[in-house]
Amino acid sequence: MGEIEIILPQASVEAGSTDGKLLGLIIISSLITLLVAGLVGIFAIRYRKGSKASRGRLPAWFDSDLELGWTLATGGLFVAIFAWAASQDFALAVPPQRATEVHAVGKQWMWKIEHPGGQREINELHLPVGETIDLVLNSQDVIHSFYIPAFRLKQDVVPGHTTRMRIRPTRTGTYRLFCAEYCGSEHSAMIGRVVVLSKEAYADWLSIQPEGDDLSTEGRQLFVSRGCAGCHEGSSKVRAPRLEGVFGGPVPLADGRTVTADDAYIRDSILQPKKDVVAGFAPIMPSFAGALDEGELVALTAYIRSLGRRDATATGGTP
Ligand code: CUA
Repeated sequence: MGEIEIILPQASVEAGSTDGKLLGLIIISSLITLLVAGLVGIFAIRYRKGSKASRGRLPAWFDSDLELGWTLATGGLFVAIFAWAASQDFALAVPPQRATEVHAVGKQWMWKIEHPGGQREINELHLPVGETIDLVLNSQDVIHSFYIPAFRLKQDVVPGHTTRMRIRPTRTGTYRLFCAEYCGSEHSAMIGRVVVLSKEAYADWLSIQPEGDDLSTEGRQLFVSRGCAGCHEGSSKVRAPRLEGVFGGPVPLADGRTVTADDAYIRDSILQPKKDVVAGFAPIMPSFAGALDEGELVALTAYIRSLGRRDATATGGTP
């Protein structure tokens, strides 16, 4: 860190294969460029003004077979390169089975990070080496982009939408973190660092952070203080759906459709409650758009998710 890095370290599972693809593309494009430039040079000399080279009709195979073969070969080559390059993106899109969930909120002009145990940091992300981290990204204002060059990973962070980035660091060390989407006058200052620690060092680091409430506890407090509990819990006079065990399961809607209660559905239900009303309930919940910031939405969702799990463990069923 500090000096300009000419050769980036390869610090994640994706780094090596991304570099392999870049190198492969450079080699293939260079060979084709050399071939085309070489032929241009040869023909320029051979058919220069005054040369005695034959300018008669070309043999028939030259027009048909060679042209067709060349077109198919280069076309096929580029489709193969596309498939090769896209395979990694497809693999990354599959949600990890076991991963530590870390939340990051982008806002003008900083990254706010929250670990599962409630530990918070700003413009710094501490990670354990060799583990899979599911980084959950939200934006408080405009589009940002979470970019760690040493990991060869970049993910847009979009307001009103949750995006995720799977991180698998392979090397301890300190790496640069950038915002890679122009997001206003201080965009260039929206930088930080990612510190990859050994598992023991990471555990030590977590333990010396100031005690924070974990996300679902914080969400529970909001659930009460923002009045959600008034309708969604036991003794209320208003009829609203109970939320225990809801997360992860199917929800029948008033219009006959059935949706899955995932993060996006919970989020939408808080911000646009009239959009997907649960079957059997009146559309009376007010929208909380503008009343909750991204961090609060993340905490509330975490609390509702924890209600789903609690129920599932209690009954021994799958969520
Ligand atoms: Cu945030 Cu650029």
